[in-house]
Amino acid sequence: DDFTDYQAETATISQGVVESNHAGYTGSGFVNYDNVTGSYVEFSVSAAAAGAQSLTFRYANGTTTDRPMAITVNGVTVATGHSFPGTGAWTTWNEISVNAPLNAGANAVRATATTADGGPNLDRLRV
Ligand code: GCU
Ligand code: CA
Ligand code: CA
Repeated sequence: DDFTDYQAETATISQGVVESNHAGYTGSGFVNYDNVTGSYVEFSVSAAAAGAQSLTFRYANGTTTDRPMAITVNGVTVATGHSFPGTGAWTTWNEISVNAPLNAGANAVRATATTADGGPNLDRLRV
């Protein structure tokens, strides 16, 4: 199947900053979530037709503590506190996939930190 990449650094960011100081990202950088509960990145994802899609987040977590995030699509929670475990280094990027129903047309896909540690560093969303 074909896929489209949505870079975190060009998405809508609440309580986070675009950075490029840890190698291995794609595009022009990544989002460093503020280390607070509620920080989020929201992507506008376009779907040709309604139906379930795999949402694949590429991230780095250089700590040994999980950085769980809630995943919502158009305001509906599809994953509560989804695990984003340590990747071993801030320069080591792993992927996590969540299956979620999308509408035809534009969809708001949001990844929100659910702990005071904030989210991991987020590179992109692949759909
Ligand atoms: C370090 C790291 C950041 C990361 C932060 C964190 O400061 O350089 O990229 O976001 O830790 O713990 O969230
Ligand atoms: Ca951070
Ligand atoms: Ca990126």
